[in-house]
Amino acid sequence: MANYKDKVAIVTGGSSGIGRALCEELGRRGATVIVADKNDKYAVKIASGITKTGGRGTAIRVDVSKEEEVQRLINGAAAEYGRLDYMFNNAGISVGGEVRDISTEHWRRVIGVNLWGVIYGTTAAYSLMVKQGFGQIVNTSSLTGLICSPMNAPYATTKHAVVGLSTSLRAEAAGLGVKVNVVCPGYIRTGIFDASPVLNVDHDKAVALIRFKMMDAAEAARVMLRGVERNKAIITFPLYARLVWWIYRLNQIFLLPSGRKMVKDFRSFRIKK
Ligand code: NAI
Repeated sequence: MANYKDKVAIVTGGSSGIGRALCEELGRRGATVIVADKNDKYAVKIASGITKTGGRGTAIRVDVSKEEEVQRLINGAAAEYGRLDYMFNNAGISVGGEVRDISTEHWRRVIGVNLWGVIYGTTAAYSLMVKQGFGQIVNTSSLTGLICSPMNAPYATTKHAVVGLSTSLRAEAAGLGVKVNVVCPGYIRTGIFDASPVLNVDHDKAVALIRFKMMDAAEAARVMLRGVERNKAIITFPLYARLVWWIYRLNQIFLLPSGRKMVKDFRSFRIKK
């Protein structure tokens, strides 16, 4: 079992939601936590909260869609602490809506953060960890990375890609002392739903279509860290997410009726027909 005490961990998207909860949980467990986020005002708050409660937290502003900023983040950690034990590539955004309403600029924005951000974080951390001979990269995908997700195609595209990247690298990295995990949660109660535009429909009505109970972010962080300790290839939770993924693998056709209903309900909210 991994022990987080005195380990150095970077968490991107650490200012809010799952990332914030991960930072706080890692801090409680004795890790040195680098809270890396575009929103540096909140990153500083989270980091100082960790330090005030007896942990070690530090904040760094980073836009994960910019390669040089991510490289600087990894170089900075290596220079300051002489090592990097955990890289949590967690920052993510979403733009919901039907593909016919989504511009290529929206696609680029989502791919920039959710896919390029994870690629930059993974490759920079991996190259350091291979030199060290140890380390663990934890990429946040989603249940959406494992099943189809109408009205969320750019997000689903990036999250599927993150699963492919992580599971492929896991096989390469094992012999070099580096562990790789991908996390595929169902719905977690965070700011992502308010922060994400949903195109050409009433935002609140679209969000209200989510039927599953949302898990608390602090609990999600604990479940994630348990999966990381066990070095599980794909960490999926809660139970309904595991069940839905299992049904999808059994035969995608079983999820067709609920997918069709979701599209129909969503379309009834269209603003511009
Ligand atoms: P959130 O919106 O609460 O937090 C996302 C954080 O990422 C924010 O602090 C934001 O400032 C930061 N961020 C956004 N763009 C960035 C950029 N370019 N560079 C650096 N930081 C940036 O969202 P949440 O829900 O905590 O999401 C965390 C991860 O979990 C994301 O990858 C998301 O896709 C994934 N996820 C979330 C689920 C949910 O139901 N909330 C379910 C499955 C996966």
